[in-house]
Amino acid sequence: MSRKLNRQSFGSPGNAGNLPGRSEVDQLLLDWVPNERLRLHMYQLGGLLRAWAERQNLDEHEVWLWEAAGLLHDADWEQWPDDHCARIIDWGESAGWDPELLHAIASHGPLHFGVEPVNELDHLIYALDELSGFVHAVSLVRPEGYAGMQVKSVKKKLKDKSFAAQVNRAEITDAAERAGHSLDELIRFIIEVQPTVALPGS
Ligand SMILES: [Fe+2]
Ligand SMILES: [Fe+2]
Repeated sequence: MSRKLNRQSFGSPGNAGNLPGRSEVDQLLLDWVPNERLRLHMYQLGGLLRAWAERQNLDEHEVWLWEAAGLLHDADWEQWPDDHCARIIDWGESAGWDPELLHAIASHGPLHFGVEPVNELDHLIYALDELSGFVHAVSLVRPEGYAGMQVKSVKKKLKDKSFAAQVNRAEITDAAERAGHSLDELIRFIIEVQPTVALPGS
């Protein structure tokens, strides 16, 4: 379903700071990701990373770097699952995107792509990707959605292997450990921020 990228370095150092604009990213996602649920997952991860970066008081350029990494991380998944995430990396390299953005995208699944997260953005994109999808799955089976959702009920669902069985629990634990944040902290953050994120225009 994906393949090892067989390298740890992406893009060209001369392109540092070169990020695609928001409308360019929105358009790319519309073109590449017809599935709204999958597109929402990318906006959710983008929104989470934006909120995390804002809480670190990063400047607006850095905040956008974090958000853009989340928005783009699965852009090629729907159409080219066997080439995920080589396609979006190739696209971004041709477009001259910032190597940090490309490295973050490539780090969102070290067990799949063989790219080790090195900086905080890399670690957080890995830590929040599967977990945010899992929390969203929990919201879909609750009549109240996100309202009143408790960390402990999410953790209980994580232990229930039959719920959202496709979500790899070992990956969630590995990611949180590498990021140096507890599952409680990450889940609490997701419950707080994720309901505020919607697809543009919806
Ligand atoms: Fe992915
Ligand atoms: Fe994802």
